[in-house]
Amino acid sequence: MFSTLTIHQAAIVFGAVVSFTALVHGLPADASNGYISDRSAVVAESHSLNPRIDIPPALAGFPSGPLNEFLRLISTLPEGAAALDAVGLILTPLQQGLADAVGIDTTRDDLAQNAACADVTVVFARGTTEPGNVGLVTGPPFYDALKEQLGSKSLAFQGVEYPATFAGFNKNGTDGVPSMTGFINQALTDCPDTKLVMSGYSQGALVLRSTANSLPADTMAKVNSVVTFGDPGNPDAITGAEGKTLIICHENDAVCKGGFITVDHLTYADNATTAAQFVVQKAGA
Ligand SMILES: *[C@@H]1O[C@H](CO)[C@@H](O)[C@H](O)[C@H]1NC(C)=O
Ligand SMILES: *[C@@H]1O[C@H](CO)[C@@H](O)[C@H](O)[C@H]1NC(C)=O
Repeated sequence: MFSTLTIHQAAIVFGAVVSFTALVHGLPADASNGYISDRSAVVAESHSLNPRIDIPPALAGFPSGPLNEFLRLISTLPEGAAALDAVGLILTPLQQGLADAVGIDTTRDDLAQNAACADVTVVFARGTTEPGNVGLVTGPPFYDALKEQLGSKSLAFQGVEYPATFAGFNKNGTDGVPSMTGFINQALTDCPDTKLVMSGYSQGALVLRSTANSLPADTMAKVNSVVTFGDPGNPDAITGAEGKTLIICHENDAVCKGGFITVDHLTYADNATTAAQFVVQKAGA
């Protein structure tokens, strides 16, 4: 719905929807104090959002109004998976609105569409609350960097289908295991010569880890490389991926140390080229 609205209108709608959803889903009082009043203020004052000065270069391309709201919201998220999932109902359309506003594709279905086999195939799991199936802050820049690094070699990029809720985070991303497993088996069966890459960001890294734990060793042996971003499992090894893994974690990303989301968790676009170079080097492409 955001694509047909101006950013200004989107910010107003966003504020209204947050207030409405908080009421409908009954966020706990301690969690919604300040939260709801803050959002109500957004409705009234959306034209004068306080600019944040800590927006890193990787996010600077986004429209600043909704981006500021997004950053403010995640830095004041309430505790508890149920309350967080209520907030996720807002974060997901907000992020999709940001993606639409700057023309970012949050869905990639290169395997589902039965395209011709590519030289490199990436199966990617997005982070909690991210829209589409490859999300916003890490999947699309990783895709762009790979396209650039691969030159004339072809790329298939497939998002894992799973709900990516906060509650799912607490289940080690197991909600995404069937989909990631299915795409990996499909790629290896249909395209035995493709260089297969498993990748995941945030909860998506947990999806990847849980999938690696459940796949047969000979399947993991056929995976060419493994890349995680903002990985809650850091620095543990990934089953069956010894010698072909790159874990990218920012020094101040608390998620990589068992903590919660900060702005350092949202800037892995900065490392997309590094990740793509690793994939290309492992693929010998
Ligand atoms: C998630 O994984 C960790 C580390 O392997 C394990 O200790 C924990 O019990 C798992 N949690 C669930 C809910 O399966
Ligand atoms: C990620 O990119 C940032 C910005 O270029 C850089 O400072 C940091 O060292 C990189 N981290 C990793 C793990 O590559």
